[in-house]
Amino acid sequence: MAHILQVDSSPRGERSISRALTKQFVQAWQHTYPEGHITYRDVGRHPVPPIDEAWIAAAFTPPAGMTPALESALAISNELIDEVLAADFLVFGVPMYNYSVPANFKAYLDQIVRVRRTFVVSSDGYEGLVKGKKVAVITTRGGSYAGGSLDFQEPYLRAVFELIGITEVAFIHAENLAMGAEKRQLAIATAQKSIHQLITSWQPSMQHS
Ligand SMILES: Cc1cc2nc3c(=O)[nH]c(=O)nc-3n(C[C@H](O)[C@H](O)[C@H](O)COP(=O)(O)O)c2cc1C
Repeated sequence: MAHILQVDSSPRGERSISRALTKQFVQAWQHTYPEGHITYRDVGRHPVPPIDEAWIAAAFTPPAGMTPALESALAISNELIDEVLAADFLVFGVPMYNYSVPANFKAYLDQIVRVRRTFVVSSDGYEGLVKGKKVAVITTRGGSYAGGSLDFQEPYLRAVFELIGITEVAFIHAENLAMGAEKRQLAIATAQKSIHQLITSWQPSMQHS
């Protein structure tokens, strides 16, 4: 059964445009996968903690040295990683904050990027363990930055996802949201169209027709 993980990171509720777009994304996805399973994680309104000294000590302790205390320091990380690994599709709603991602989303990434769980290191370098996922990142921005030198969101997220093995990532940027009603409406409509196009492109039968 198809399984999607939806992660929202805006601290805003009804006013959040990224939330509205991830919701529409999942609705459109459900249309294609009516039997599909949805897991929802809201790190915007229910933040996960930043990693701390106990987390770091536990994450870098080899399995033979683990203790119940070290295990408990990784409990939230394990829960978040299990969610990612269980899904075939992931959709992230990520506002641009100060040219990058909100601190809540950074804290989430720090929890899921973990040696031996989502990547391994050897003499050959890093190898990601999160394979075979289709990922969409929906960003919302007051201005217009896509492809420019101030876009520290997309290049950063591509690098982090690649580290853990996620290579099939599509970005949908809803930009100019603070540039008046007309530009905002156009940006939202364009993002909605991109959402439908992306989900259509994900369907195996469409890809090969
Ligand atoms: C703290 C803060 C920082 C922001 N920084 C940027 C920025 O660097 N560039 C930008 O284009 N928009 C910026 N914005 C505007 C948001 O990206 C925009 O309002 C977006 O719609 C927020 O996502 P949301 O609607 O899902 O909450 C910022 C907004 C806030 C609240």
